[in-house]
Amino acid sequence: MALVTPTVSSALAATLAELKAAGELDLATFNKGESSSVDYSAPFALFSQWYAQAQTTETPWANAVNVATVGANGRPSSRAVLMQMFSVQNGFGFYTNYASRKGREMDENPFVAMTFYWPQLARQVRIEGRVAKASETDSDAYFARRPRGHQISAWSSLQSECLPSADVFTTRIREMEAQFPEGTPVPRPPHCGLYFVTPDAFEFWCEGGNRRHQRLTFSKSDGEALWTIGRLFP
Ligand SMILES: Cc1cc2nc3c(=O)[nH]c(=O)nc-3n(C[C@H](O)[C@H](O)[C@H](O)COP(=O)(O)O)c2cc1C
Repeated sequence: MALVTPTVSSALAATLAELKAAGELDLATFNKGESSSVDYSAPFALFSQWYAQAQTTETPWANAVNVATVGANGRPSSRAVLMQMFSVQNGFGFYTNYASRKGREMDENPFVAMTFYWPQLARQVRIEGRVAKASETDSDAYFARRPRGHQISAWSSLQSECLPSADVFTTRIREMEAQFPEGTPVPRPPHCGLYFVTPDAFEFWCEGGNRRHQRLTFSKSDGEALWTIGRLFP
């Protein structure tokens, strides 16, 4: 696979030029190092642009994202999940087991951090925000679109619980296959569903030569409509 490494200046310049063209960024202010407010959709537009590029370079899993949670004990834990959808309205959606370790920790503390890393593009996107369960209707609709094998596995796995032997999981899969015979719809297990992360911070990182990386940030407080844009030392 060819390594796609856009020069930082051209990658970031293209990005900023697009935001400017969309009327979402006062580039002159930004370049003076002052913070500037941009429209709510701006970081989503930039994410969308980078993600589209990653989908062509980071096969098969451009949507793999690390999600870090912190439970009541204050200890962080992190793992990869697949981002299933994103939108300005709903944020970033992923699907998991509510009773898993991450599910329990998100119940205890609704703030999470997500990191996409796209090595072929030499880019990283960090997102922080508040997580919440999607509506039952949205989770049902998502689950109904999953392949049957995935649906059966969702019923069979007690995610994050101790598995005493591999046979125990195999037996549970057989039991669930008998419970939901081929040809009958498999309902969503009540312990699984979608979560959406509503961001209040983004950081877009591009690699630069001699460790002169570029870091572009968007942040906002709860309820604010505009993002403050900024730059960080690498
Ligand atoms: C690339 C990748 C994608 C994954 N996607 C998901 C996912 O979308 N949902 C999920 O529950 N687990 C997913 N997993 C498994 C999780 O990383 C993790 O093992 C599982 O969710 C249990 O995590 P927990 O015990 O911290 O809750 C994925 C793993 C990898 C490596």
